Amino acid sequence: MKRKIILDCDPGHDDAVALMMAGIHPSIDLLGVTIVSGNQTLEKNLTNALNICQYLNIDVPVYAGSTRPLVKKPVYAEFIHGKSGLDGPTFDPLVKKPEEKFAPVYIAETLMNSEEKITLVPTGPLTNIALAMRLEPKIVDKIEEIVLMGGSVDSGNITPAAEFNIWVDAEAARIVFESGVKVVMCGLNVTRKLRCFQEIIDRMDKIGNKASTLFKEMMEFYNQTQLSSFGWVGGPLHDPLTIAYLIDNSVLKLNHCHVDVDNNNSVSYGRTNCDFPGIQGLEPTAYVAEDVDIEKFWNIIEECLKLYS
Ligand code: BDR
Ligand code: CA
Repeated sequence: MKRKIILDCDPGHDDAVALMMAGIHPSIDLLGVTIVSGNQTLEKNLTNALNICQYLNIDVPVYAGSTRPLVKKPVYAEFIHGKSGLDGPTFDPLVKKPEEKFAPVYIAETLMNSEEKITLVPTGPLTNIALAMRLEPKIVDKIEEIVLMGGSVDSGNITPAAEFNIWVDAEAARIVFESGVKVVMCGLNVTRKLRCFQEIIDRMDKIGNKASTLFKEMMEFYNQTQLSSFGWVGGPLHDPLTIAYLIDNSVLKLNHCHVDVDNNNSVSYGRTNCDFPGIQGLEPTAYVAEDVDIEKFWNIIEECLKLYS
């Protein structure tokens, strides 16, 4: 049976790849795409999602969500994703329109009206998910699990302590991690191993369809900013790991442990403290990715891109 999911994202190059995968894989029923402020403004992220869907004929409703984090001012990752939030590829004039409903309302209503449980896949700041939980607290019983990209067991990428998605809205992240819902956390400690080297781009380019062309154009831009910002040759492809995990759980080794999101006003704001050894003796609150099968990951990406005609 197909797994029903809602993808909550801020495309963003790596979010766009996650959307491409979720939009085509036969094991996934992509019910809706919800957009959040993050890599760029809400408006730009929304345009990017619509462009991807239109270009690849992904027939899915797209909803605009929060324009800003719950408490903090918005911060964007233009230094990685460019002025548009998805610099690199160009698209035909946009015809596809977003839905009217506010994304957190859509998330809450869809969960409450569904007989089956639904999986949430956030690949941006957790603002929309936290707002949906506050709008209708009963949704926690209707969520199958939350498979998210965010956090890190070790160092961060926006501060020494914090990963971007959690740091942008650590208040929202606390709400999600403390909700009692099963959370699978794909953090930087594993996604940093997924380096999109030129040979990976060439391998995907050989597929020779619309999706592989888009992948190449996006990754060529992404790799330039990853190099200039972080010195990476071959940028790490973070967000698609969530979808790869849904397609094949064996891509990740997980550690069930207690996670505390730091939202104190300190240099560690946004840090995900993952108690791997269980020093605190507290209840486990999340399944934290400890290791990733790199080869399997790229095989899944290739499998998804090949599904486009
Ligand atoms: C995360 O931050 C964003 O820039 C990426 O899209 C990804 O979700 C990595 O820290
Ligand atoms: Ca993202």
